Amino acid sequence: VANVRGEIAAEGITPLASGPAVSDELFELGQALFFDKLVSGNQDVSCATCHLPPFGGTDGRTLPNGVGGSGQGPARFGGDIIPRNGPSVVNAHLLGEMFWDGRVEPGGGGSLNTPAGAALTPAMQAVFDPGLELLAAQAMMPPTSREEMRGQIGESELGNLPDGEFTDVWQGIMDRILVVPEYVTLFSSAYPTTPLVDFNFAHAANAIAGFEARAFDRTDSPFERFVGGDDTALTTPQLQGALEFFRPGNCSSCHSGNLFTDEDYHNIALPQFGPGQGNGPGGDDDFGRENVTGNGADRYRFRTPSLLNVELTAPYGHVGQFADLTDFVAHYRNTQNSLLTYNIVAEVDDPSLIATLVPNANQVLNTVDPLVANPRNFNANQIADFLRALTADSARDLSDVVPATVPSGLPVN
Ligand code: HEC
Ligand code: HEC
Repeated sequence: VANVRGEIAAEGITPLASGPAVSDELFELGQALFFDKLVSGNQDVSCATCHLPPFGGTDGRTLPNGVGGSGQGPARFGGDIIPRNGPSVVNAHLLGEMFWDGRVEPGGGGSLNTPAGAALTPAMQAVFDPGLELLAAQAMMPPTSREEMRGQIGESELGNLPDGEFTDVWQGIMDRILVVPEYVTLFSSAYPTTPLVDFNFAHAANAIAGFEARAFDRTDSPFERFVGGDDTALTTPQLQGALEFFRPGNCSSCHSGNLFTDEDYHNIALPQFGPGQGNGPGGDDDFGRENVTGNGADRYRFRTPSLLNVELTAPYGHVGQFADLTDFVAHYRNTQNSLLTYNIVAEVDDPSLIATLVPNANQVLNTVDPLVANPRNFNANQIADFLRALTADSARDLSDVVPATVPSGLPVN
């Protein structure tokens, strides 16, 4: 116990902050929008299609199936395959940037950088409540993506809008929502001083963010109790695993601080597969952070994910490279060997992904982060035991956040 306390003190780990205060009215509006497929072009996908309460706020899939898919979670099939693994919405309000490449992040002088650029006007950003800015800016994005929610030309009035016209898509969604009387009531209650004509999608996104920050604020883990002073909160294997994590594993050189992330970007020698981000000779590679910064030194660097509740969010890695937590941890024992001997057949849930493995291993290894480049010895099982101590009791069952119905009357998943 004393050794683990020493590591925690050296790491500067303190009790987690609680989320921003969110009114009941904003929460209810956001809850409705998060679960309502009306927000998607073909009315077939909601945020919850990919961020499911039974799977720790992820979809439990290697890669999500978006527009045109059927079924839920691991049983989902068909439709557009999304190029990256779906991260969890649990505790996302604590993060300092959104997405695997951080493309939604704070800009200078209180502004926000997002792929929407100038379309996310200062007036819209001013709608975002303090503490909800990043989550709200993030929530503006999925409805604009053809594969995630919007659909194709010829499928709906939202699908028919040209690419890049963020403002028109957002307005199109509002036109749909505000003809539903229950939404008019919900918006007016959440924003009592805003006249109906002044609502835009920023109000919707701010409500979704408020819902997420309150519904998915789940920090009651054994580790959190230990940090709070309870010496009995961790089991002996978890205490041993903590020492492996902080010492020979050296995991905390990147998974540092209260959230177990440095909120920085690294190349840890993972394979690439799936549709990709249009990078590389075949267009099927994913250059990660370079796509945001334009800096070649950022190629193959991805955000260090927080490890809070990681037990619940399999598969792991930016395309879901590993199905099992211990296997992901064991990757770090010899990253080069792990990448070169990667067995995609054993790891992916959708066999159509097997043929998409990108032959980029040499390029990835050329720029692998020095911290994980060399073979190291540590007990991966013990580290995985420790990581399970980061699971909040209340995150194991998130069913309390699912509404019985949504205002459009469409099925809730
Ligand atoms: C078709 C699946 C899909 C749908 C629908 C979807 N998401 Fe996601 N979500 C993802 C994927 C995949 C990522 C990561 C993408 C990336 O990093 O490039 C993501 C990222 C996020 C993140 C960032 C988490 C982090 O750790 O950075 C949040 C928050 C989020 N989604 C919320 C939402 C909300 C709110 C909606 C509805 C407006 C939504 N998502 C709809 C798949 C989906
Ligand atoms: C050089 C920085 C670095 C070090 C050291 C490091 N990690 Fe990571 N970790 C990352 C990055 C970056 C990712 C995401 C990479 C990607 O998907 O491309 C990641 C991903 C993970 C994931 C997957 C999480 C998820 O939600 O998908 C786990 C689990 C993990 N690391 C655990 C560990 C453990 C345990 C150690 C120590 C043995 C460790 N990491 C050491 C940077 C690091």
